[in-house]
Amino acid sequence: TTATQIDPSADTNFAIATHRTQAESALTAVKQQLGQQYWPLIDGERVQTEKKVQSVNPSNPTEIVGTVGQINIAQAEDAIAAAKAAFQTWKRTSAKERADILRRAANLLEARRHELNAWMVFEAGKPLQQADVEVSEAVDFCRYYAAEMERLDPKIIYDVAGESDRYFYRPKGIVLVISPWNFPLAIPTGMTVAALVTGNCVLLKPAAVTSVIAAKLSEILVEAGIPKGVFQYVPGSGSTVGAHLVKHPAVQMIVFTGSQEVGCEIYANAAVLQPGQRHLKRVVAEMGGKNAIIVDESADLDQAVQGVVYSAFGYSGQKCSACSRVVVLASVYDAFVARLVEATKSLNVGIAADPGTKVGPVIDEAAQQRIRETIDKGKTEANLALQLPAPETGYFVGPVIFTEVDPHSSLAQEEIFGPVLSVIKAQSFEEGVAIANNTNFALTGGLYSRTPSHIEQAKTEFEVGNLYINRSITGAIVARQPFGGYKLSGVGSKAGGPDYLLQFLDPRTVTENI
Ligand code: NAD
Ligand code: ALA
Repeated sequence: TTATQIDPSADTNFAIATHRTQAESALTAVKQQLGQQYWPLIDGERVQTEKKVQSVNPSNPTEIVGTVGQINIAQAEDAIAAAKAAFQTWKRTSAKERADILRRAANLLEARRHELNAWMVFEAGKPLQQADVEVSEAVDFCRYYAAEMERLDPKIIYDVAGESDRYFYRPKGIVLVISPWNFPLAIPTGMTVAALVTGNCVLLKPAAVTSVIAAKLSEILVEAGIPKGVFQYVPGSGSTVGAHLVKHPAVQMIVFTGSQEVGCEIYANAAVLQPGQRHLKRVVAEMGGKNAIIVDESADLDQAVQGVVYSAFGYSGQKCSACSRVVVLASVYDAFVARLVEATKSLNVGIAADPGTKVGPVIDEAAQQRIRETIDKGKTEANLALQLPAPETGYFVGPVIFTEVDPHSSLAQEEIFGPVLSVIKAQSFEEGVAIANNTNFALTGGLYSRTPSHIEQAKTEFEVGNLYINRSITGAIVARQPFGGYKLSGVGSKAGGPDYLLQFLDPRTVTENI
């Protein structure tokens, strides 16, 4: 079948001097805007709150990126009431009109690319290039879901003589979007605009540590023409306000991306029928991974080393798609490990705003502490082949490689979400696939091989949502590599793919005897 196509938004080419100058000017301009106050957006108004949280720069935690007002339960109720009211008009707004708002948002995101990159550098600790691809992804989500809604909009005709049979979709109602910090722009944008373009009203609850970037997204959606009450920005505590909204009887659907622990809790809470609730909630939950790359004896080792290093240590390993296990066949194990260690030594660890940085900080002190503890425990389970030094100030963790890792150990089984890579030896390709598959997750996976039978076997037997052969395993492109996993990596259709919008809709059939 013919897929909906869009022209992907072009990433910045930082090799071009004028682009580097634009990036530097944006960093300077945004630095001057740090420390401002951001308020939730409820029913079209910026509302003040009692509680506020400070978002800090993980490269330099004394630098306050912004202070963000946190809604309380009463304000959550106000937002639900506003969404209910706004839904009456929004559900009748044409698909074309809604899609056009997304296209305007895409243009605004593109126009503010360097500025948004700078906010991600300061708030999420993303090196510029990692931030830049995220702006492209956010733009692509808007344009792709706009086109997808227009594809789904015409009624399907099943008429027979004397009878009209029409099949079409209605929006579900109020959608709660709960987003993580690691893709602070692309992921909330994708989940939010999918819900909006299908005619739903959205409450966006971002991760606290990146709620300034989510505030920028809220500005863009308002400027693009989203009516009041249709989209509301509701920063607040996940475990109190987030959980309250998940359980709210008026919420029809929850779209979550984040950890397995929180995803499972949301799934369970959403399943309970609340007094006054007249529907069952749909939950889309994109969760973690423990992604493996298999390197067989026929692999181009230069290519494999480069792909593994980028997949494991890009954004300090803080991607659900990141490579955290590399399964290497015994015959090439020693050669691969030696080259992997050398290549990793060349990574510059430093502040995200420095153009030479390849590995920036991790997101916060709690993450730094947790990753350090995992490394210490790992030292008792496996051989420490490399631990790079990292700056003292800021939430840095230098890249770590463990070798001779037991595939059943916690190092090889639990998501670490940091720059820690485990190398596992396999005696045969079959064993390699079995090791790769033996986790609770099925998100991304990779294979470096020049053996056609191994490539074919991986295509059918490697249990992952996104399989990459002879390339890195992060950076899925909207409408080209629809993204998402199964097993405990998630429930729901792939983001940026042809089934995604259907989740936000209820199908109806109308039959008329004529
Ligand atoms: P997290 O689960 O800690 O938080 C995600 C969101 O849930 C935040 O907005 C948080 O405030 C909210 N939350 C927390 N407790 C809640 C509760 N009880 N009820 C409702 N909401 C609650 O995840 P994180 O640390 O922000 O993100 C990292 C995780 O996200 C990793 O596990 C990573 O693998 C996963 N992730 C998955 C994908 C994917 O597409 N599969 C993409 C990115 C990140
Ligand atoms: N979509 C993101 C990636 O592919 C998570 O890296």
